[in-house]
Amino acid sequence: MLCNVRMPANAQQSTFKLSPMIIHDVHSFAKPEEAVIKHLSLQLDVSFEKKVLRGKAVLTIEKKENTGKLHLDARDLVIEKITLGTNEEMTTFKLGEPVPFLGSDLEVDLAASTTQVNIYYSTSPGAAALQWLEPAQTAGGKRPFLFTQSQAILARTWIPLQDSPNIRFTYDATISCPHDLMALMSAENSTSKNAEGHYRFNMPQAIPSYLMALSVGDLDFHAYTNTCGVFAEPSMLEAAAAEFTDMPEMIRAAESLYGKYRWGRYDLLVLPPSFPFGGMENPRITFATPTIIAGDRSLVSLVAHELAHSWSGNLVTNATWNDFWLNEGFTVYFETRIMEKLYGKDYADMLTVLSYEELKQTVKDMGDSADTKLYLDLKGRDPDDGVTDIAYQKGRFFLTTIEQAVGREKFDEFVNRYFNDFAFQSMDTRHFLEYLELNLLKGNEELKKKIMVDEWVYGKGLPSNCPVIKSTELEKAAIAANAMKGGQNPASLQTSGWTTHHWLYFLRSIRDSLEPRNMAALDEAFKFTTSGNSEILCDWLQLCIRNHYEKAYPALEKFLITVGRRKFLKPLYSEMAKTPEGKKRALEIYRKARPGYHAVTVQTIDEILQFRK
Ligand code: BES
Ligand code: ZN
Repeated sequence: MLCNVRMPANAQQSTFKLSPMIIHDVHSFAKPEEAVIKHLSLQLDVSFEKKVLRGKAVLTIEKKENTGKLHLDARDLVIEKITLGTNEEMTTFKLGEPVPFLGSDLEVDLAASTTQVNIYYSTSPGAAALQWLEPAQTAGGKRPFLFTQSQAILARTWIPLQDSPNIRFTYDATISCPHDLMALMSAENSTSKNAEGHYRFNMPQAIPSYLMALSVGDLDFHAYTNTCGVFAEPSMLEAAAAEFTDMPEMIRAAESLYGKYRWGRYDLLVLPPSFPFGGMENPRITFATPTIIAGDRSLVSLVAHELAHSWSGNLVTNATWNDFWLNEGFTVYFETRIMEKLYGKDYADMLTVLSYEELKQTVKDMGDSADTKLYLDLKGRDPDDGVTDIAYQKGRFFLTTIEQAVGREKFDEFVNRYFNDFAFQSMDTRHFLEYLELNLLKGNEELKKKIMVDEWVYGKGLPSNCPVIKSTELEKAAIAANAMKGGQNPASLQTSGWTTHHWLYFLRSIRDSLEPRNMAALDEAFKFTTSGNSEILCDWLQLCIRNHYEKAYPALEKFLITVGRRKFLKPLYSEMAKTPEGKKRALEIYRKARPGYHAVTVQTIDEILQFRK
């Protein structure tokens, strides 16, 4: 629990005045109004044998005079001892009963003058943030690999800290790992290996805990510029470097939209395929799935997305997980603007239309659920429940609605000011709306009626004024899909010049009319089963499951076993679970695949398949 009253620092000097922010984070035991972390100094040894991180976390804190306790979040950590100050006086602590998802309240007894708390601890092998990979799960096949995934509330499974997005601290770290591996963190990184396996990191900008990140593996680096490059396993580096070559352009486009990039370097780390997400916006170094390496740069909007988080999310941070749409809605909006700047409006419109169709489906699937509101109520639940198209796409279309109502120029000016006014601070939904009113809507009733703010933020489903975007490019795919529905042979369809996005739209358009007897001709014509494009393959494989196209089953099994990206696995396992035979096959594959998945993915698929060990 936590209660924190503050005024936005920059806002006080600015011309507007928001009401005081009283932030209550239901996903943290921290009590920052009593004692709060300002700096973390981490020393960890990485043991691949034990699958454990062991060392110490030195916390610099600021506390109220009359406070005798520091409340931290800890989950599955083994706390060895806790001392105070530079002279390391032993102190006592209480580790509360673990609560599902949240872990325990770690209550440390402080002395009157305490400003430093030293926690000696180790992680447990099952720590949910950590994934320890066997050599066979890497591209090189010879060395093990470790990566972390802290968002939303998993940082507490590898570091004892105040695990709330409303609390920011700077950090430094020393990581010791096997000497032939390289360690990287969401901090100032060296770009070369060090012969002793000792890596020093420094993060001078204050960040929330969910952006703490570490990765250890056999990695190499390719520089695009002095401040931008890509890390990958040696055997992946060439393909990775070629795929993401537009990264420096993306940074320039982003800066031209919403102001200077504030984090020094921007690098990309390509992880092994078990990474549970598409990407994670760890500051200075985005972590990404290798499944976006399509060979034709057609999936790089994901990089634009994670880069956009350097403003929306990392600079101005959702105050609690109920405000998650502020992170993701802004980021999808910003991502699309970057893509439009780089590749043109037709391209961006394809992305938007594909997302809109997915959003409509999600809203339909979620029915009357209160989780279709932008502002969520995740009390007593895993914040992971809030990770749906609502935060991302409904959030984005809300912002597009505002943009269209006030005009792009005014909206951009507003967003620019917003990122500046609240840089390195957090923001909740209520105060964002106050800020919107004071700086953009300014009591203009006609404008407000047009936008329908409350329906978007506090209402369920999609408001009636949701913008409708058309894509002339995707029309081509719709025409081909209709021709096929009318009986035309796939091989004679007009598909020349199609991109990944045309193919996805095509597959989604024929989904409901397809019959088992169409499958072989389609596959013959377009070679979907052997597609090297993960997005196309994933859509195709769903059709294969539905239509019992057995020829694709080996490819399906291979995909499920090598890829751990939840967004792909969820629809595939769900589709299989719809029939008894399918579910049986799904469970057989899942038994083999599960040990290779990250905890985040395991949690989701266990639920879909009602899997019990
Ligand atoms: N920050 C998210 C990933 C995330 C969200 C992890 C919530 C844990 C909890 C990241 O920026 C993201 O949105 N990734 C997307 C890709 C994006 C292009 C929509 C993903 O991984 O699919
Ligand atoms: Zn995101």
